[in-house]
Amino acid sequence: MKHHLILCLTLIALTAAAQNKNAPVNYDESQVPAFQVPDLLTCSDGTRIETRRQWQRKRRPELLRLFSEQEYGITPKHTGIKVKYETLASGPALGGLATQKQVRFVFTSPDGQKHEALLLLYLPRNVAGRVPVIIAYNFHGNQTTTLQHDVIFSPSKELMKDAGSGKWVCGEQASRWCYEMALQRGYAVATMCYHDICPDSPTLLSHSVLPIGTHREASDYGTIGIWAWGYSRIADYLQKHERQIDKHRMAVMGHSRLGKTALWAGVQDKRFRVVISNNSGCGGAALSKRVFGENVARITAAFPHWFCPAFNTYSENEAALPFDQHQLLALIAPRHFYVASAQDDQWADPKGEYLSALYASPVYQLYGMQGLPDGPQPPVQQPLHYDAAYHIRTGSHDVTAYDWQCYLDYLDKMLR
Ligand code: GCU
Repeated sequence: MKHHLILCLTLIALTAAAQNKNAPVNYDESQVPAFQVPDLLTCSDGTRIETRRQWQRKRRPELLRLFSEQEYGITPKHTGIKVKYETLASGPALGGLATQKQVRFVFTSPDGQKHEALLLLYLPRNVAGRVPVIIAYNFHGNQTTTLQHDVIFSPSKELMKDAGSGKWVCGEQASRWCYEMALQRGYAVATMCYHDICPDSPTLLSHSVLPIGTHREASDYGTIGIWAWGYSRIADYLQKHERQIDKHRMAVMGHSRLGKTALWAGVQDKRFRVVISNNSGCGGAALSKRVFGENVARITAAFPHWFCPAFNTYSENEAALPFDQHQLLALIAPRHFYVASAQDDQWADPKGEYLSALYASPVYQLYGMQGLPDGPQPPVQQPLHYDAAYHIRTGSHDVTAYDWQCYLDYLDKMLR
C-alpha cells in the first residue's frame, strides 16, 4: 500500500515536470497579466529607503540574499581552489593590431582534481599606458571567435556530443566578435569558452571547476552561478598578471544565457565597472512577472541546471516571486549596466528588458546619478546612454557590429 502511494506520488511529480516543458508561452501584449513589480526601495520589514547609506547597508544586502537564495544560488566565498596560469602562446596578431596571448588556467581543487580552461586575450598594440578590457565568454571555443588560425581549440570541445559539428569550426562565430573595432578604439578583449568553466549539460557536470552535485539543496548554485564565479577568476588574472590592463576599467559582457551570467557576475563583483547584457531575456534582464516570451516554467524545465532549485517554485507562478529582475539591475549601481534587446527576439521579451532597466532608475537617483529617464521604450537604433544604458536594434537574437559600436561608445563615456 505504502509502495503504491510512493509510486503514485512519483508519477504525479514526473508528469508535472513533463508538463512544465509545455507550459504556454505568451507573445500577445494584451495577455500580459496585471502585475506590480516589487518596490525597489521598500525593505521586507516595510522600512522605506531614503539614502544611499540605507540602500547599501540594508536593502542591497537583503536583495542580494534573495537573488542568491531563490534564483541563482549562493556563491561560495572560500572554495580552496588554487589557480595557476601558463602562457601557451603570445605574439602579434590581427594584422599587427594586437598582441595575442593564450593562457591556460589550471584549477586545482582541495582534493587534488585539476581542470583546465583557456583564455584568449587580445591587447591593443601601439597604445601607451594601461588599457580598459572587455571580458566575455564565448559559446563554442576561442577558435570560433576569430579567423586567425593560430588560436588553440578550447579544451572543453572534446567533452561535447556535437564536437564534430560545424559549431566548433574556426571562425564560425567571428561575426559576433568585433575584435578589430575594439582594438582600434584602445580596448583589450578577453574571452574563454564557458564550457571550460562548467559544461552546459546536466550529464557533464562532473567536469565543472566548482563542484556541483546531481542532487542540490534549494539554494545551491547552478551553472549560471559557476560561470559568474568564473568571470571573476578571469578578472583576477587580468588584474594581477597583465601589466597592460587597467584593473579599474574592466567591463563584463555576455550574450543570452551568458548575458544572464554577466549580470549575476556584475552584481557580485564590484571590479566590473560596466556590465553588458546582450539579449539576456528570462532570468537575465527581462521582468519575470510579465510572463511574456520565455517564462520560468519553460526555462527551469529546459535548463534544470542553470538556476538554484528554489527558482522552480515560481514555475507557472511568477506572481509569487518576491523580487523581479529590475532589482537585479539596480544592484549594479552606482556602477553601470547596459541592457540591449533585438526587435525579432520576442522569446527574450525586449519590452520586459527595457522596463526592467527603467525600473532600476530610482537607485541611480539615490546616488545622484541618472538612470534611464521615464518614457516609452525607445525606437530601434536609438540608444539611451545615461548612467544606465539601453538599446533595441533591428534583427534577431545575436551580437552584431551595431551592438559593439554602441557598447564601445558607451564604454568611452563611462571608462574614460
Ligand atoms: C535558449 C534559452 C534562453 C537563452 C538562450 C541562449 O533560447 O531559452 O534563455 O538565453 O537559449 O543562451 O542562447
